[in-house]
Amino acid sequence: MTTTSTAPGSTFEELYGHAPEGVWAAPGRVNLIGEHTDYNDGFVLPIAIPQAVRAYARRRSDGVLRLVSTRVPGETVELDVAALTPGGVAGWAAYPAAVVWTLRKAGHEVGGADVLLDSDVPGGAGLSSSAALECAVAAAYNDLYELGLDAVESALLAQRAENEFVGVPCGIMDQMASMVCRAGAALHLDARDLSARHVPLDLAGAGLTLLVLDTRVQHDLADGAYAALRAGCERAAALLGLPALRDLAAADLPAASTRLPAELVPLVRHVVTENERVERAVEELERHGPAALGPILTAGHASLRDDYRTSCPETDLAADTAVAAGALGARMTGGGFGGSVIALVSTEKAQAVAAAVVEAFAAAGYAEPHVYRAVPSEGARREA
Ligand code: GLA
Repeated sequence: MTTTSTAPGSTFEELYGHAPEGVWAAPGRVNLIGEHTDYNDGFVLPIAIPQAVRAYARRRSDGVLRLVSTRVPGETVELDVAALTPGGVAGWAAYPAAVVWTLRKAGHEVGGADVLLDSDVPGGAGLSSSAALECAVAAAYNDLYELGLDAVESALLAQRAENEFVGVPCGIMDQMASMVCRAGAALHLDARDLSARHVPLDLAGAGLTLLVLDTRVQHDLADGAYAALRAGCERAAALLGLPALRDLAAADLPAASTRLPAELVPLVRHVVTENERVERAVEELERHGPAALGPILTAGHASLRDDYRTSCPETDLAADTAVAAGALGARMTGGGFGGSVIALVSTEKAQAVAAAVVEAFAAAGYAEPHVYRAVPSEGARREA
């Protein structure tokens, strides 16, 4: 890996001396409900957001991968694709390198490329900026090297890149959301068999706004907490003699709890009740429209706070303040330990709810949260 400096703000042509062959975009996501269920073979309900990573790319014939990110101005990372090894690439470049390594490991004859990455997905905000980065590069390579991968194969490949090369034991939700989501719909995904259904979600038509309140508390999924939670779930499933916690019915929860060490009981309760919340959310959404999601979101937050313990004072304050200010429901979204809270609000109250959260953060001495509006958006695509 060599890193050289380049003039910040350079265009692809200025950096590499030729035009890109194309531009591929892959979005971040917010998850409506179904947190920490994916690696338990359960259900999730994410939407893609308008913010995306764009990969401008052109093949190279010499086996060199050159990477520039507008997020890290002035730096070019140069890698020999045949020499890529897990752990061998540091920082942001590990994610695109991981995708190329995984493609080669899967037997695809891919070589190098010149790549310029441009992202407006906030990093460390629980909005899947890493999955978006992986998926944009996977989409670019898929087309440039004519691999013929479909969206699900690409998502699995991007997940494998993160698991095996970057070393984060994430589930499949973020990559599936980034690759598969459609505008105007939420993705009801079964993380066991990857069957997916697009559930229409017309927030504007229902007079609703989905606020994203980024607490700006940075989480780091690689720090071991996520891996420990995942291991706890797997241990509980093994002790219960089940393939995964998805296979535990809610009615069997009391009996199962007597067979588990005390520290695993709340983890299992969260996963089982959260899977139920996803199924209920889809039913309510289809029967009564998006407003009916509100109480389910708030119940999901309580479960993450009290049972799974992935919330933190900032996410609790954002969720509680939003509900107190009139939101129909609010919850932490994503891996946790900071990141973003989503709040479902009637559009006429959106401004006031956001202002109430900003004010509560100021009063508590926290950094000012960043506020976005999430619109269910299209998954990965070629843009040029
Ligand atoms: C992260 C992971 C996902 C999922 C969520 C929690 O975003 O990448 O696979 O486990 O946390 O729901």
